[in-house]
Amino acid sequence: MSHFTNALAEAASLTNAGMDRLLPLADGLEVQVLEAMRYSCFAGGKRLRPFLVLASADLFNVSRVCSERVAVAVEMVHTYSLIHDDLPAMDDDDLRRGKPTCHKKFDEATAILAGDGLISLAFEILASTATHQSAEIRAELILELARAIGAQGMVGGQMLDLVAENHDLDMSEITRLQRMKTGALINYACMSGAILGKANGAQRHGLSAYAHDLGLAFQIVDDLLDIEGLAKEMGKAVNKDEEAGKATFVSILGVERARDRAHILIEQSIKHLEIFGEKSKLLKDLADFVVQRRY
Ligand code: IPE
Ligand code: IPE
Ligand code: MG
Ligand code: MG
Ligand code: MG
Repeated sequence: MSHFTNALAEAASLTNAGMDRLLPLADGLEVQVLEAMRYSCFAGGKRLRPFLVLASADLFNVSRVCSERVAVAVEMVHTYSLIHDDLPAMDDDDLRRGKPTCHKKFDEATAILAGDGLISLAFEILASTATHQSAEIRAELILELARAIGAQGMVGGQMLDLVAENHDLDMSEITRLQRMKTGALINYACMSGAILGKANGAQRHGLSAYAHDLGLAFQIVDDLLDIEGLAKEMGKAVNKDEEAGKATFVSILGVERARDRAHILIEQSIKHLEIFGEKSKLLKDLADFVVQRRY
């Protein structure tokens, strides 16, 4: 196994262990919501965002005790976004991470509540003194996450994504949509490492520029895989965007130019890490993985 493959597997196992610890089952009558939260959290997933949190925090030698908790919080938020994204009122998907979606396994109301439960738990984890002893750092982690996933970020992007079914968006509108929908949480994953590590302005700028290009490339590849990927490998249905008449980078640029664009963005993202030197090797490898991935 390459150093990168090992590191990705390690990030996944740290995340799983942290989630298991931080997401206990209760024995009250409300147990079903906790079962649904655990079901979706442990249904697989590449754990790319936790990897980004850990690798970014490692640049500043942050204790893994702290970064692991932030990684778990970020993956919980991501999982909440997928549970809601799959609901009949949104993308109406039956398969996620190779398993029935949360609302198929349980029911719609439980899936909505499981998402709500995960996002609340994520903030609770960030606010806990176990995540960082400094109240200032905890407040910054919370503030930036709230910004990243609210109406100016992921939730706004999801709204635009629905609007894109009935409107022809141009390149700059699609770029804004993707930056909000997917880019904002990816950016947060990297910036949380900088927050924990009390990074200086230049370091923050480098990481944020990396995350910006990486996030856009990530979503272009997601859109390409929606057309070219195999549902079996992806663990989710394909051809959904075209069926829904959704404007994406691929619908505007075509497959070849979209792929070229993703490659250019990845090269650019890697250049932004130069200030970190050899220490940023894993983040560079992750960027290459994102553009080469088949799932
Ligand atoms: C899928 O994200 C949803 C998007 C934001 C495009 P991932 O491809 O990271 O999904 P998992 O976590 O590996 O299942
Ligand atoms: C999902 O985007 C983005 C969020 C959940 C914020 P997609 O709808 O493209 O993701 P997939 O293709 O279902 O994984
Ligand atoms: Mg969607
Ligand atoms: Mg979807
Ligand atoms: Mg998609």
